[in-house]
Amino acid sequence: MAELVPVEPFDIVVFGATGDLALRKLVPALFHRWCDGQISESSRIIAASRDDLEQEAFRKIAAKHIHPGNGDRAQKWTEFAQRLIYIAIDSSGEGEGWETLSKSLDHDPEKVRLFYLALPSSLYGPISSALAKHELNTPNARVVLEKPIGSDFHSARQVNDQVGEVFEENAIFRIDHYLGKETVQNLLILRFANFLFEPLWNANGIDHVQITAAESLGAGKRAAYYDRSGALRDMVQNHLLQLACLVAMEPPASLEPDAVRTEKLKVLRALKPISADAIAHDVVRGQYQAGAVDGKTVPGYVEELGHGTETETFVGIRAHIDNWRWAGVPFYMRTGKRMSERRSEIIVQFKPIPHDVVGAVHGAMHANRLVIRLQPDEGVKLMLMTKDPGPGGLRLRYVPLNLSYAEHFEKDYPDAYERLLMDVVRGNLSLFMRRDEVEAAWRWVDGIIQAWDLGHAKMYGYPAGTDGPTQSALLLAREDREWFDAFSA
Ligand code: BG6
Repeated sequence: MAELVPVEPFDIVVFGATGDLALRKLVPALFHRWCDGQISESSRIIAASRDDLEQEAFRKIAAKHIHPGNGDRAQKWTEFAQRLIYIAIDSSGEGEGWETLSKSLDHDPEKVRLFYLALPSSLYGPISSALAKHELNTPNARVVLEKPIGSDFHSARQVNDQVGEVFEENAIFRIDHYLGKETVQNLLILRFANFLFEPLWNANGIDHVQITAAESLGAGKRAAYYDRSGALRDMVQNHLLQLACLVAMEPPASLEPDAVRTEKLKVLRALKPISADAIAHDVVRGQYQAGAVDGKTVPGYVEELGHGTETETFVGIRAHIDNWRWAGVPFYMRTGKRMSERRSEIIVQFKPIPHDVVGAVHGAMHANRLVIRLQPDEGVKLMLMTKDPGPGGLRLRYVPLNLSYAEHFEKDYPDAYERLLMDVVRGNLSLFMRRDEVEAAWRWVDGIIQAWDLGHAKMYGYPAGTDGPTQSALLLAREDREWFDAFSA
């Protein structure tokens, strides 16, 4: 049985409180932890943003994202809402808001204080300085930085430097919510708590790896942010590369934060740079056009935005990790908006058997495959060859050993943000990115951005509701491989 251990009392200040992330993810995450009794009564939740709003007005906006309804949940919401304080504040550090913020915080120096910056990363430096100016960075204060941090290596380094002037590295929690997903954490357990996989987990046993993070939604309300970012900066630089790190890293000596983060860093540093010459061969960029998703006609990205743009909503990449373990093993990664379905998964394709002794009458021989489904329908499947039972000649079937989370585990476990927020309160850095990881990821991604900026890659259109441009399929087809489309494959 899962056991919820209450965390010590804390004060959290969410900057950017009227933004999409705070309203859709952070406030609901805190509310759910409150409902489960993990947050103590003496904790305070302070929502801060530049919008001039009354307390009640903010609570109403927040309630719209919580849907408290009636009954027990409504009662919990009333209790929670009483602890939700709204402050209008200017990120420059000037104005009354900062005085109000200071007064709203508990001044016990031992009390854990979190500053969650759900804002563009260009504001992380100014806000950190403002926190220092108003002496709010007490010894037990932690700052949480949302991704993407910067928009390339140099800007990321600048942001890290600025925040680092105010907070020690071990008080900086760079969040990547993919690391808080149950199935992602399970990847470590699968690899390092089972003997079975590790001997084969290398270029001798593995043919290639596929990492997919597909979404059926478009850029929607976040289009203003998204258009400055694009799929490469929004998803690949962080989520997809972090997943690749967990698949590819060497076994750490322990699961201590720095032991794991150091191994992930080695993977990022071993990523083979994709040169401008190779870009058209190894990277596919795309943008969705009008199409149909779930039976509904939807506009293209440009129409949604209202103007032309060179921002990609899809990226497919063929990457290599230049070390002994992974020499010659492609890591294919793809992510996109307005694809045929919402599906994130990691597929590890093992090598084929060296010699077929079976000579089956029916059924093709397939190589083993490990499918780790992040969402939806979390699960792990190990695809195996078996004999189809019964008479009628030797027939082969490719079937899954199936670990479905829905069938095996309690249904309600905290979502990624809930888990990660509680980890910040506990001061546990394991699932957060260290400065050098973020910067190493940018160094590799910068190579792709620079090649694009030089005009070294076309933008391919794809109809909304499909799996990206056809060139994405070619990325694998050229090497006699294909994206595995169905979990049930
Ligand atoms: C965020 C991106 O980090 O992850 C979004 O900024 C994306 O563009 C989201 O939609 C996907 O998260 P999830 O958990 O729904 O896969």
